[in-house]
Amino acid sequence: MNSPSPKKVALVTGASSGIGAVYADRLAARGYDLILVARRADRLEALCAQVSKTHRVKAEPIMADLTQDQDLARIETILSTNGDVRVLVNNAGLARLAPAAQMPANDVASQIALNITALTRLTQAVVPAFVARNQGLIINISSALAIQSLPISATYSGTKAFVLQYTTGLQQELAETGVKVQLVLPASTATEIWDLSGVPLAALNKESLMTTENMVDAALAGFDQGETITWPSVADASLWEKYEVARANLFANTQAGKPAPRYAIA
Ligand SMILES: NC(=O)c1ccc[n+]([C@@H]2O[C@H](COP(=O)([O-])OP(=O)(O)OC[C@H]3O[C@@H](n4cnc5c(N)ncnc54)[C@H](OP(=O)(O)O)[C@@H]3O)[C@@H](O)[C@H]2O)c1
Repeated sequence: MNSPSPKKVALVTGASSGIGAVYADRLAARGYDLILVARRADRLEALCAQVSKTHRVKAEPIMADLTQDQDLARIETILSTNGDVRVLVNNAGLARLAPAAQMPANDVASQIALNITALTRLTQAVVPAFVARNQGLIINISSALAIQSLPISATYSGTKAFVLQYTTGLQQELAETGVKVQLVLPASTATEIWDLSGVPLAALNKESLMTTENMVDAALAGFDQGETITWPSVADASLWEKYEVARANLFANTQAGKPAPRYAIA
């Protein structure tokens, strides 16, 4: 009889910088071997060398552009066939912040491809394997902008709202299994994403910026405490509970089956 492999591997997308690089370090510290995915080979290789030296784990860099079908398919294959994968961190993401109608079509398409399509495909690749083993953890990185659209964030907020809805649906589907799914909604975090987005990091209010280390450590603390939805910067956890109650109440009220009285034709 095959006994389960003692090896445990975490695959982190977007590990070449920012939040993903800190997840890589923290998961290595928890004893996970790593598969680190992004486009920049030099960054990934340097991080792999550093974490394997510091934490004595194996770390493999895989260069992939997750907006490209063939690259995405390579990572899907790893997730569906490598029985040692225990954790998937869907972290790779990009933001382009500009008024919707002025945004070049390829900036719209790349945000949707990376933030939505890649996250969805990688999740769908790993879920059957995790369910078959009745074990596994998916961490999906959304954003506080999932619940807030700004005049320059229609597309980005839309992609992150997708991550919120997709993940909460998935959590319900997997509730009776041993597979865990955590949704993380960071607010402004000091990473390269800002300078690339069109809104320089230097333009942000420093008081509202979190470090990547604080963000990831808070999110992992939330997971350790059994949270399925983690708002790393929100001090009053009851705010999300109240939001959920209001949302559920609004949804229940959509089920009336007839126009609301204020729309009655006189
Ligand atoms: N920073 C914030 O304020 C903030 C707030 C809320 C949510 N988030 C979310 O946190 C996640 C991580 O972002 P970050 O802030 O850490 O930004 P970041 O430092 O720019 O990291 C983004 C990562 O995604 C990778 N990536 C970008 N395009 C890719 C592609 N086509 N294929 C594969 N990998 C790609 C980048 O690597 P390569 O360039 O090497 O490919 C990089 O490793 C994102 O999902 C972001 O939306 C960030």
